[in-house]
Amino acid sequence: MKKVLLLRKGFKILVECGKKVSTHLGIIDTKKAKVGQKIKTHLGNEFFVVEPNLRDMMEKLKRGAQVILPKDMATIIAYTGLRPNWKVLDAGSGSAFSSIFLANFLEKGKVITCENDERFYRIALENIKFVGMKNIVLKKCDVKNIKEKNFNLILLDMENSDRVIEEMDKKLLIGGYIVVYSPTIDHMIKNLKSLKKTEKYEVQILENIIREWQYEKTLRPKTKGLMHTGFLIIARKVSE
Ligand SMILES: C[S@@+](CC[C@H](N)C(=O)[O-])C[C@H]1O[C@@H](n2cnc3c(N)ncnc32)[C@H](O)[C@@H]1O
Repeated sequence: MKKVLLLRKGFKILVECGKKVSTHLGIIDTKKAKVGQKIKTHLGNEFFVVEPNLRDMMEKLKRGAQVILPKDMATIIAYTGLRPNWKVLDAGSGSAFSSIFLANFLEKGKVITCENDERFYRIALENIKFVGMKNIVLKKCDVKNIKEKNFNLILLDMENSDRVIEEMDKKLLIGGYIVVYSPTIDHMIKNLKSLKKTEKYEVQILENIIREWQYEKTLRPKTKGLMHTGFLIIARKVSE
């Protein structure tokens, strides 16, 4: 069912069109909700009806395994120069956050994602259904059993990714990228070694630190915030 975002200052709610929704500002009959127009609750409070964006949708997703957050996904997209027609492999799926983020920019391309754990597979499936993206193919299997080839980008966010790099290399186009998300230095070093062993990759290692600022009363960085998430290995295949 089509989803719309009902928006007013300090409050937003993602709803499926056609349902009645109760809020602290009154009941809204979303049958009458039309994008670009206003809608009133039974108490007369107004909301704007807008198309939800990726962030609005992602805030509602379930989380199972640890997810890759927008700041790191944005870095992956920027440093690989992701194009709308790319074929991407994302392993493992986890909560499918990274798959959904990438698929949002693949108008003519697709993401194949695989998960070997039943519990996370179900969460990924539910999340992909929720956002309604048709360009994500979710498979319940080990990444080693993926048959497809000719990927432009292979994103590895999983334990022991260093052990599958040699195999992944066979599935990657020249000029394409293997990106490894490493929560720890140990993980990163192991993956770096596997990539170096192939002698085919130009590698960058990145850490994206982002500071949010407060602007009410005083203007300065917030005292609390997101600290370490992960390191990114961006490896481009430059030879056969
Ligand atoms: C950290 S999560 C991935 C999170 C995902 N990138 C996201 O943003 O939602 C890692 C997932 O990889 C899965 N996994 C580990 N080894 C795997 C393998 N060999 N094949 C497929 N999935 C694997 C785990 O079960 C886990 O759900």
